[in-house]
Amino acid sequence: MTHILYVDFSPRVERSVSRSLTKEFITAWEQQHPNDTVTYRDIGQYPVPPVDEAWIAAAFSSSDKISPHLATALTISDELIDELLAADRYVFGVPMYNFSVPANLKAYIDQIVRVQRTFAMGADGEKGLVKDKKMLVITARGGSYSASTPTAHLDFQEPYLRAIFGFIGITDITFIHAENLTMGDEARQQSLTAAQTAIQALISSW
Ligand SMILES: Cc1cc2nc3c(=O)[nH]c(=O)nc-3n(C[C@H](O)[C@H](O)[C@H](O)COP(=O)(O)O)c2cc1C
Repeated sequence: MTHILYVDFSPRVERSVSRSLTKEFITAWEQQHPNDTVTYRDIGQYPVPPVDEAWIAAAFSSSDKISPHLATALTISDELIDELLAADRYVFGVPMYNFSVPANLKAYIDQIVRVQRTFAMGADGEKGLVKDKKMLVITARGGSYSASTPTAHLDFQEPYLRAIFGFIGITDITFIHAENLTMGDEARQQSLTAAQTAIQALISSW
């Protein structure tokens, strides 16, 4: 039995393309894997706060010295990390904002990338602690950033997500990009169809 953590990051609800595609994936997955379990989190509508001074002080103190005040600064981080570690696989729906990720995803990442919980620092450098996981990231983008386009170098979204999740140990990451969503009906439809085909293919191979 596999446990999936399914997270949407689009602040849009009805009109969100990334949400419609993650839902399509999860619905098809649940039909084919009725014994698997899914936890859903809606960061798009319910963002987590940015880290603050108390968070930083608490995260970098040794646990026996943390005061009750500092310990509460990590409550949300602990909840998000427990949820992350409890899952075997991740399905994230991520809009592209300003060539990268929305600020709500950056805030989520800042909460879950934590020393001694998701990475360790040793004499030979940092080591990811989130092992044997798989991640699917479905992105929605107004333009196109595939390798053959002149805007390929502006994709700071996929490389960033590969780097930061790789840093905590999640290296098996599949991306499905719905692109050209603001480039006219034909380009939009073509890209949506390709993304839906990729989703169906992944259901049987993931
Ligand atoms: C604040 C903002 C910034 C955006 N920046 C980009 C961008 O840099 N590149 C791009 O291709 N599309 C950009 N877009 C378009 C979105 O990626 C596109 O509308 C996508 O469908 C959003 O995901 P969603 O449909 O799941 O909400 C931006 C949209 C917004 C609202």
